[in-house]
Amino acid sequence: MGEVLLLVGLQWGDEGKGKIIDALAERFEVVVRFQGGANAGHSVQIGDDKFVLHLVPTGILHPDALCIIGNGVVVDPGALIEEIRELQKRGVKVGENLVLSDRAHVVLPHHKLLDRLREESRGKDMLGTTGRGIGPCYADKASRCGIRFAELMDKDLFRERLEAVLATYNPILREVYGAESLNCDAVYEEYRKYAGDLEPYVKDTVPIVHKALEDGKNILLEGAQGSLLDLDFGTYPYVTSSDVIGGATAGTGIPPTRIDRVMGLAKAYCTRVGAGPFPTEQNNEVGETIRQTIAEHGGREYGATTGRPRRCGWLDGVALRYTARLSGVETFAVSVLDVLSAFETIKVCTAYKADGQVLRTFPAGAGTLTKAEPVYEEFEGWRCDISGATAWGDLPGQARSYLRFMEKLASARVQFVSVGPERTQVIERRPDE
Ligand code: GDP
Ligand code: IMO
Ligand code: MG
Repeated sequence: MGEVLLLVGLQWGDEGKGKIIDALAERFEVVVRFQGGANAGHSVQIGDDKFVLHLVPTGILHPDALCIIGNGVVVDPGALIEEIRELQKRGVKVGENLVLSDRAHVVLPHHKLLDRLREESRGKDMLGTTGRGIGPCYADKASRCGIRFAELMDKDLFRERLEAVLATYNPILREVYGAESLNCDAVYEEYRKYAGDLEPYVKDTVPIVHKALEDGKNILLEGAQGSLLDLDFGTYPYVTSSDVIGGATAGTGIPPTRIDRVMGLAKAYCTRVGAGPFPTEQNNEVGETIRQTIAEHGGREYGATTGRPRRCGWLDGVALRYTARLSGVETFAVSVLDVLSAFETIKVCTAYKADGQVLRTFPAGAGTLTKAEPVYEEFEGWRCDISGATAWGDLPGQARSYLRFMEKLASARVQFVSVGPERTQVIERRPDE
């Protein structure tokens, strides 16, 4: 029987999922995205070629993998078409190896517009969304006024649904936000064109996934965002609008009993884009050193989707303990370990102090987290270049001690260590190491 593996980011996104999915993908016949949308930006570097995937599963860089955009993803058709064309232009095969669920919801112009207008109206309390219409599209889905690809493909039904949805939102755009109404005819024409372009890809993905399970195929579920951005378990309201952890079943049609293993992925430090609490943030020379070092090593701590500088800080062990347990990881991958080579001393937060109390669990309230003062443990750095390491044994003792401490926090075993952005810069640890 094939294996179904779920890969989940254990922090605030950008943990290097693109890189690890790419490394894993050669062992999987099917790669499925199940939540999020074009807010994701998953980077893969192959030699001097850098790819950033937003909606297309990262497995697309392996021509034999079947890539599925599952029903749980919210899809901006214009962005998807552009991404497909760009990949094709660069010589990547995108054809029958890509399938888009007819149950996936369509991101419409009012979603993107409302995302921006709501952010503007929040003023200093803005969430710092990616502006890709994600929240409003998931809100329409839950309100049962969304439009799915199944409806988009049916021109009469699409017209009917679009008229209804714009009849609700145009007065809001005008009267609440002082914006202009959207023209139904223009949106209809634009989206009918997208429907034509995407028609070959749109299918009922549920039987495809079930057949892959029956045929014993290995299936890799590609999480987007990270556990601390999860709608339920993240730093609400500074989260995304999808179930980052639980979406793997709801967003694919794979029953929970068929997920064999969950692999986590954490950076050796932490980053966050957008607003919200970040107890270990180092808005100082430590953060600057992280951003500079990763740039020297060919990576980037700037949003892969929006280009915004990422906030950087030390590893948050309280959060790692929490997220590793939430997704039940048995093994995890650690990325950007090479960047910590820049530090003589490395800190890890193991508890918070807030309101005169010591907290070892991750609190629900953004208020408590904002006040939380990290309690740090210090580790000796290794101060040497590890970007050429190809085996666990090549890593300096201090680096292995640091990874063992991460294992203690996560109660899980480190299986992969990434030491650079390039496809080959990844160490797989043997079971006896
Ligand atoms: P994702 O959203 O989880 O796929 O992560 P992103 O692609 O948004 O961000 C990760 C960034 O770090 C990208 O610029 C990667 O090329 C880079 N990167 C990933 N792993 C490593 C690593 O081990 N070392 C270094 N130096 N860069 C890495
Ligand atoms: P990948 O898959 C990092 C963040 C945004 C913002 C919040 C809500 O590349 O790891 P949204 O547009 O989703 O409503 O924004 O979530 N965010 C991400 N941060 N990586 C991502 O994806 C993200 N997707 C959303 O910055 O704080
Ligand atoms: Mg990213």
